Amino acid sequence: MMTPSNDTIKQPKSIAIVTGASSGLGQEYVKYLCEKFPLDEIWLAARRKDRLYALADTLSVPSKVFPLDLADEKAIEVLSLALEKEQPFIQFLINAAGFGKMGSYKDIPLKELDHMVLVNCKAMMDITQICIPYTKKGSRILEISSVASFQPLPGFNVYAASKAFVTSYSRALHWELFLKGIKVTGVCPYWIRDTEFIETTKSGTARPDAIRHFMLGTTAKKVVRNSMFQNKIGLGIATPGIISTLYRLGAKFVPHEIAIAAWEGLRRL
Ligand SMILES: NC(=O)c1ccc[n+]([C@@H]2O[C@H](COP(=O)([O-])OP(=O)(O)OC[C@H]3O[C@@H](n4cnc5c(N)ncnc54)[C@H](OP(=O)(O)O)[C@@H]3O)[C@@H](O)[C@H]2O)c1
Repeated sequence: MMTPSNDTIKQPKSIAIVTGASSGLGQEYVKYLCEKFPLDEIWLAARRKDRLYALADTLSVPSKVFPLDLADEKAIEVLSLALEKEQPFIQFLINAAGFGKMGSYKDIPLKELDHMVLVNCKAMMDITQICIPYTKKGSRILEISSVASFQPLPGFNVYAASKAFVTSYSRALHWELFLKGIKVTGVCPYWIRDTEFIETTKSGTARPDAIRHFMLGTTAKKVVRNSMFQNKIGLGIATPGIISTLYRLGAKFVPHEIAIAAWEGLRRL
């Protein structure tokens, strides 16, 4: 019987998939991965096609661009079909696509609230689920959550609740995939001042001043470096920076009602 030689056995491409790659954290993860790891290809997903192609042009690694609205069910089908066709080895999956809107229950249209849950929760979970079959020992998954996931936040209610889903899902998935040697981390940053997130929270709401201060914000570069390290050492939850770590500790030990009262005061100052 003939056995195929090493030349004829096609090795799967080693790829990274990054959602939310058109700006902010996602874009920063793309640059970091391309600089630090010998990838065969990187897949970039977000809605703004021009931004994705502009980023792809600057990269040293070949890329595939997926201009998709991840709130749309068809986007998951497109990614799923691409995975089926390419049969890659997913070395990195980074789910950075996400957004928030500030204001209380009466300030944000239902459509925006639904959209937030679809992108932050459903798309993140769907993409992770369709990618897991293409991961193996050594693969790394980072789900971008937030410190907002550690306590309920009036005036940022649905966003905080959507991120609680991301943190909880990531923490459990970390354990489910741990023995397979796949590292999963829910990344929980505090405010990041150099992305489009804060501007986005103020649009499409009747209360763009529901949160007035974004003090002690960090930068996307620091969050990326720090979270990649915390994922590498196998942490299920990463708080990339001193403020996010203190926030996490505070939320653990201070009763929720006291923490919420403090937040209600601080956000109005
Ligand atoms: N910045 C902060 O203060 C902060 C703090 C904690 C956690 N986070 C989390 O960090 C992640 C990245 O946010 P960022 O700070 O980098 O903000 P950003 O600059 O606004 O980036 C958000 C990304 O999500 C993509 N996105 C939004 N809706 C989408 C949709 N329907 N379909 C596909 N892509 C979509 C955007 O691309 P398109 O608009 O091109 O679609 C963009 O690339 C988010 O999950 C956010 O919740 C941010």
